[in-house]
Amino acid sequence: MNKKVLKAVFPAAGLGTRFLPATKASPKEMLPIVDKPLIQYGAEEAEAAGIESLVFIIGRAKRAIPDHFDKAYELEVELESSGKEKLLQIVQNVLPEEVSCIYLRQAEAKGLGHAVLCAKPVVRDEPFAVILADDLIKGDSGRGAMAQMVDVYDKYQCSVILVEEVPPEETNKYGIVEVTEDDGETAIISSIVEKPDPKDAPSNLAVVGRYILTPRIFDLLEQTGTGKGGEIQLTDAIAELLKFEKVRAYRVKGKRYDCGSKLGYMEATVEYGLEHPELGEDFAAYLRGLACTPGSKASKE
Ligand code: G1P
Repeated sequence: MNKKVLKAVFPAAGLGTRFLPATKASPKEMLPIVDKPLIQYGAEEAEAAGIESLVFIIGRAKRAIPDHFDKAYELEVELESSGKEKLLQIVQNVLPEEVSCIYLRQAEAKGLGHAVLCAKPVVRDEPFAVILADDLIKGDSGRGAMAQMVDVYDKYQCSVILVEEVPPEETNKYGIVEVTEDDGETAIISSIVEKPDPKDAPSNLAVVGRYILTPRIFDLLEQTGTGKGGEIQLTDAIAELLKFEKVRAYRVKGKRYDCGSKLGYMEATVEYGLEHPELGEDFAAYLRGLACTPGSKASKE
């Protein structure tokens, strides 16, 4: 094999029902954390991992995603003529020029496995990354989760799946893995199951929105029938992959925010806000003020 991971697939055709009505006409991947949409954090993470092509799997009402990564002529002319250099740079540098974007339409939302399979004609026989943008991950020491995973892939030359321990009562929200040869950082996956009830879960090690997969997964996805929730599940195809190849679990060094849930989204907004170079100090002062205001909800905690 010995190929590099140069493509990342971004499934982004879901309906975003947990954020309605915000996601009625615009994609959940475009929800901002402070001033950048979730999908841009994902794209930057891919780029920092050496990935050169971003493959977006989009559905209806997702035109804002290609527009976001496209050139914005009128806006740029406007910013230039009014001397707003800094903003102009921000708009022009949404992605570096070396990174190319490919958009594929998933006509029906038939599940994550189906979305990944849509990328087969573009990815073909290469290993590739999958990034679920609503899992926002802040890597330790500024090293992104995908860059960490590419290191693991380069070392072991096998599929790598990002995992994190979750509270045992939450296993029904995630793909859950069982592992052997666990060195505390990586381990070999011996089984994987989609969203098991806590009583049936083989562990509390949950898959958290980042995968590096070998291309054999496409053949397996083609044979995968509908699973949990009546959808074609990536987890089910990975369970088949285990019969042919080693797949490693990797525990992220960093912090994950579940921006697919309102609480996780708000936590990310607060923490990224506190670290924002222009806003951080004022925002921290505001939060302290809230905590000290007698009778406020924040003061009761
Ligand atoms: C998907 C996967 C699941 C994984 C999760 C991570 O579920 O099917 O295995 O644990 O992403 O965020 P979803 O959150 O799309 O329901």
